[in-house]
Amino acid sequence: MWQYSDILMDHFMNPRNVGNLDTPDGHSEVGSPQCGDAMFLDIDIDDKGRIADIAFKTFGCAGAIASASALTEMVRGLPIEEALGIRNSQIAEFLGGMPPEKFHCSVMGHQALKAAVEDFRAKCDEINGIIGELGIEPVLIRPGRVYLKAGDDIDAVKKALDERLERKISVEVR
Ligand code: FES
Repeated sequence: MWQYSDILMDHFMNPRNVGNLDTPDGHSEVGSPQCGDAMFLDIDIDDKGRIADIAFKTFGCAGAIASASALTEMVRGLPIEEALGIRNSQIAEFLGGMPPEKFHCSVMGHQALKAAVEDFRAKCDEINGIIGELGIEPVLIRPGRVYLKAGDDIDAVKKALDERLERKISVEVR
């Protein structure tokens, strides 16, 4: 059996942030080419571009469960770029060490986070494109909500988003 630290065992036995978010701003599904295991990850991004909420599910091993649990704890509240900059060695350090043979398991969480951020950005770009066609520049876009300036044509934006997207998006003036 691999030698695991007490902290890693705690994150394996009691993983944090397991599950999924109701209407995530970003979602990903990734797999590990080394072992075929998989991970699903959801994120919500707040108005300042920080990770407001995060949840994961994995079919991975103890190392994958513990490292994903650690990663979710480490990135909560961080700006996106900072969260993406967390290295596997930092996750291993957070967990009090990890057998080198299990390092690839911690890579999956990082890949899942990166893919969820890409999904978040793609959704925002899609909304921005639709609103841009109306000649309107939103104040802020998130996959579930859009803020416009006073004087912007809210009804036209709502109509365009309703027609072009399957999900419901709230539109407000800020
Ligand atoms: Fe598959 Fe660890 S062996 S994630």
